[in-house]
Amino acid sequence: MVPNILLSLGLILLASVAYASTQGAPWVPTWKKDLKRIERLVALQPGEMFVELGCGNGRVCRHLAQTTQAGRIVGVELSLLQWTIAKMQVAFLRSQKKFQNFAIVTFPEIVLGNVFKHPLSDYDVVYLFLMPAAYKKIRPKLEAELKPGARVVSYVWPIDGWEDDVIDMAQGQPNVFLYRR
Ligand SMILES: C[S@@+](CC[C@H](N)C(=O)[O-])C[C@H]1O[C@@H](n2cnc3c(N)ncnc32)[C@H](O)[C@@H]1O
Repeated sequence: MVPNILLSLGLILLASVAYASTQGAPWVPTWKKDLKRIERLVALQPGEMFVELGCGNGRVCRHLAQTTQAGRIVGVELSLLQWTIAKMQVAFLRSQKKFQNFAIVTFPEIVLGNVFKHPLSDYDVVYLFLMPAAYKKIRPKLEAELKPGARVVSYVWPIDGWEDDVIDMAQGQPNVFLYRR
């Protein structure tokens, strides 16, 4: 009985990983060594609202929660496995904060959902690391919903048809692109 339940659970998690990878990108995390570059480019101001579209294990969200005073940090993830891991990582961060007492203004909210359906009009900054085909699909949504002045930061791939504000390049590391709407 228990092995069957565990097997079914494992299969559901694996199926959700496979499904999510066909809906935007497979799970490849942002490199840890690029987090500082992303933090600089995102340049989150106190109180600003940030969303990561396809947040994986929530690494970028957790980094920004510890290094900025954002008003809200949201990660949207379609795969049950990554969503569960991200939730657990945020719970761990909360428990660490209790013991170490470091200042965190807001903890990331990890949302199970599809980035193509997540409302974007409230956000000041969007971070995304998906595949180019997904960028093509999400571009009209970003153009329709983001408020004037919102920033979009893209890891690895440019957004075709948009003029970048900054391209952050580093030897042997992926490019990071900043756009302003
Ligand atoms: C390339 S990984 C990037 C993960 C994370 N943003 C990072 O930089 O570490 C892409 C993530 O997006 C998720 N994803 C793919 N399509 C999605 C969709 N339509 N809605 C929500 N998440 C999606 C995948 O499950 C995966 O975790």
